[in-house]
Amino acid sequence: MQKSYTKEFKLKAVHEVVKENKKVKDVAVELNITIGNLYKWITIFKQDGVFYGKGHSKNKEKETIRQLEVENQILKKALFLSDKTEDIFEFIYEHKGIFPVQTMCRLFNVSSSGYYKFARSTESLEELKYKQVVKLVKTVYLKHGPNIGSPKITDIINRNESITSQATVARILKEHKEQWHASDSRFHKDEDVVLHFHNKNTYFDMNAGKYYHQDFAKQEINSLLDSTYFSGFKKYIRDDIESADSYSVKDNLIIQGENLVALHKLKQCFKRKIKLIYIDPPYNTERYDLSYYDNYSRSDYLLFLKNRLEVAKDLLKINGSIFIHCSNKEQAYLKVLCDEVFSEENIVNQIVWRKTYGQQNTSQMATTKDFILIYAKNKKHLQLNRTNLSSSQLKSYKYTDQHGRFRIDKIQNKRNGYYEYQVNTPNGEYINERWDYPKDTFENLLENNLIYWSNSNIPYKKVYLSEGSTKVVNDLWVSEEYGSTQEATVELQALVGKNRFTYPKPEKLINKIIELSTSEGDIVLDFFGGSGTTAVVSSNLNRQFITVELSKNNFELIIERLQKSLNDTQSFISCQINREKRPPQN
Ligand SMILES: C[S@@+](CC[C@H](N)C(=O)[O-])C[C@H]1O[C@@H](n2cnc3c(N)ncnc32)[C@H](O)[C@@H]1O
Repeated sequence: MQKSYTKEFKLKAVHEVVKENKKVKDVAVELNITIGNLYKWITIFKQDGVFYGKGHSKNKEKETIRQLEVENQILKKALFLSDKTEDIFEFIYEHKGIFPVQTMCRLFNVSSSGYYKFARSTESLEELKYKQVVKLVKTVYLKHGPNIGSPKITDIINRNESITSQATVARILKEHKEQWHASDSRFHKDEDVVLHFHNKNTYFDMNAGKYYHQDFAKQEINSLLDSTYFSGFKKYIRDDIESADSYSVKDNLIIQGENLVALHKLKQCFKRKIKLIYIDPPYNTERYDLSYYDNYSRSDYLLFLKNRLEVAKDLLKINGSIFIHCSNKEQAYLKVLCDEVFSEENIVNQIVWRKTYGQQNTSQMATTKDFILIYAKNKKHLQLNRTNLSSSQLKSYKYTDQHGRFRIDKIQNKRNGYYEYQVNTPNGEYINERWDYPKDTFENLLENNLIYWSNSNIPYKKVYLSEGSTKVVNDLWVSEEYGSTQEATVELQALVGKNRFTYPKPEKLINKIIELSTSEGDIVLDFFGGSGTTAVVSSNLNRQFITVELSKNNFELIIERLQKSLNDTQSFISCQINREKRPPQN
């Protein structure tokens, strides 16, 4: 039942906020009223001053109302913001041009000095933003020709939301104009190789079964996104399937549909929440015998990925990373594209993975490797995990004494040893030799029982296997611990039967990537799902997962595979992307 309140009560409530400068939320709790009611009264108060009290300056109260409105706007924007300080700082950083920093710090209860420290370490984000504006100005300028000026360019860029100022655009034009002219005119010469992306959006229409590579205006993209939605939610707990209304930020998700749309939709709930993105997109092999389409022109292929990577980047946490699997065919082009999207300073490395232990003898030289490009959202904040020693490395720790297991390192170096001195052996003989350590270091090792004498009385240095020994991962993944394509096929066949998917990735490989870049509870996203290897391995390692897959067959395969792999306590939600209208036709 709706409660009725006296004028005095409303006045008191509004003044609690206005006079004391308290938060609406706190006053509502104190007086046991709804936040909605309180806002309503404040609005009435603002409009006609019905609750205007004695002894207060109207202007001051208006100011307070304005302040409350700002707070309200901030809270609305921060709907999906988590409690983590790092996420809050990032939110403040992103909105510092729109809302006052101090107000945001007060509202989210974080220290402003802590925020400024964070902001200083994130300054390169500013540079990235500037680079993006340069890119936009360049696109508009080249499209409209040399006569377009900074007011018009600013207008075009800011058509939907304010991104930049006219002064910035004018400065960018002054700095770059000549250079753009030169590069643009070069595109017309056939002999020049230029990586040039048209301002197009590659989009797969599931109903028509074809790709659109066309210029979409921002409004068209917005209307396309507005008219699409996730539907058909089902919750899977082992063999049980329940219908569900929606999903939450805590759910494992399998989505069927076009990943460009899915990524945009996921942004509403998962912006800056994903720790790892692993993708294994089609390699552009130009083959037709695969479980998916894989025959693009190079420029369409790069454009296809560029559009998706740009959205994917927004989903990454500030300390997150993306691993992009590719083959020889597109690696070099993709690397340049990723440098542009994620910025050159954020490349972490390029892994070479030995994918097969057999080889075909049909070409001039057999290909046995793939590449995995790794980029950080912001390299300053990335912290990859160290790894345990491999089984072959562990095998070398074959000696034991009262202090535990150890391996031995040579110290005698007959040819190149820098130090030359005499060493007395335990059996009373002596060796006059060259060594890798100075004499006092050797004596120190001896004194501390860190020298091992071989049967032939040669001294070695003991290196103990300390508890939990770890090392930094390197970029050459060529041993069996990283799996192979043959192994992956057998793995999948054993679970779901033959001929269900061509060339899945091995669980061992994905296991290494996830362990390297995430911790338990982190969210892992794969938007080229395939047979669902990333989802299965994520759940095995207690990570939350989101997988997007276009094909219905593969989507059903992922569900089947997950149902057979998950334990009784794990669950996931599946849904599809639906669209009310078609995208604009060619
Ligand atoms: C190389 S496979 C991924 C294999 C996967 N890593 C595995 O281990 O099974 C690429 C997958 O991306 C899917 N795909 C291609 N274009 C897509 C799009 N636009 N949206 C969503 N999925 C897409 C294909 O259907 C295919 O299943």
